Amino acid sequence: MGYQEAYDKLEKYGQLHVLKYYEELDREEQEALLRQIEQTDFDVLSLCKQKENLNPRGEITPIGVMQLPEIAAKKEEYTKTGLDAIRAGKVGAVLLAGGMGTRLGSDAPKGVYNIGLTKEVFIFQRLIENLLDVVHQAGAWIPLYVMTSDKNHETTTAFFKEKKYFGYNAEYVTFFMQDMAPASNYNGKVYMEARHKISTSPNGNGGWFLSMMKWGVVDKIREAGVEWLNVFAVDNVLQRIADPCFVGATIATGSAVGAKVVKKTAPDEKVGAMCLEDGKPSIVEYYDMTEELMAAKDENGEPAYNFGVILNYLFREKDLEEIVAKKLPLHIVEKKIPYLDEAGELVKPEAPNGYKFEQLVLDMIHELDSCLPYEVVRNKEFAPIKNKTGVDSVESARELCKENGIEL
Ligand code: UTP
Repeated sequence: MGYQEAYDKLEKYGQLHVLKYYEELDREEQEALLRQIEQTDFDVLSLCKQKENLNPRGEITPIGVMQLPEIAAKKEEYTKTGLDAIRAGKVGAVLLAGGMGTRLGSDAPKGVYNIGLTKEVFIFQRLIENLLDVVHQAGAWIPLYVMTSDKNHETTTAFFKEKKYFGYNAEYVTFFMQDMAPASNYNGKVYMEARHKISTSPNGNGGWFLSMMKWGVVDKIREAGVEWLNVFAVDNVLQRIADPCFVGATIATGSAVGAKVVKKTAPDEKVGAMCLEDGKPSIVEYYDMTEELMAAKDENGEPAYNFGVILNYLFREKDLEEIVAKKLPLHIVEKKIPYLDEAGELVKPEAPNGYKFEQLVLDMIHELDSCLPYEVVRNKEFAPIKNKTGVDSVESARELCKENGIEL
């Protein structure tokens, strides 16, 4: 794209400030900026204006959950079904590690964070160790697909190499990068992160399958005969991945997708709760939980929306192409976005200062006709690291690791 075309595109979207330093840039930087302007979808920025009614909710009703006693009663049968599928190479795992982890406050990818006290225990290492448990149980390698972003790809891949994949078979590990979206101030004007670069951030964890398609990973998955993909978050250090019993339960119940859930600690806990929305499986975010939904009870007198998702889903690969073709809703998320101030100096804000535009994996659930919410024991499988201290932090995750006999 030439300068004039770039100028016209920016003018159309009210973003001409992007060219403020153009004359001062060297040739290479000018070209890089023009290329970025060409590739950037500025349409998303207009959504700031309709932020409040961006994704109207349908009618929320309760969904049945497979709870611990039912799972215990069928554990052997489900585990066998799951292990058979794993041994047949039908199950892959997708690690969502493209996020910026801004709340943790480290510039490095979250997975390279060391939570150890007397020795090194990296977040990636915890996840691989958990996956290795299943590999050993099944006697078969499970393909692992790792999603990174432009911001952390090099560091992540170099780290895995340096640590020799923590004992995993490198032939079964594939990295792919997610797409980026512009980040803006509260008025929808994009920030600049350098004089020749628009601020961008990863486009949310819902973009994973599209990115896998773009990177040719989906073709490989199909060739290999992988039928189920267990998508999971990087930040839960007790995450059980490709859990045979969960895989087996999802298959045995003929569900289109399985979702691991934990019992909520309180009706207003900040986790998305499983529900039906207009009769289809869905997740109601904690900020959409009305007083009425929080007070609702089921036939046993228990809270009707009592189970929260932990970002561990088992999708059937053949459904995914259809889901992503429908275009998932966009979410506007308030975040801390580094930016150039008026003087052209880079500022790293201490508090949120603008918007990122994201698609979320949880919206994929609503595109499917059936879902198995599958309860897991909270203290055994849910130790998210979002913050440095306090709730869902390195501290709380360390406590939970200790409780589970994991040496740190
Ligand atoms: P979070 O929603 O906690 O976002 O991600 P985050 O960006 O990592 O952290 P904060 O909010 O800035 O502190 C949940 C999971 O989704 C992945 C994350 O890596 C994590 O595993 N994720 C998130 C992506 O892979 N890509 C994204 O664009 C966003």
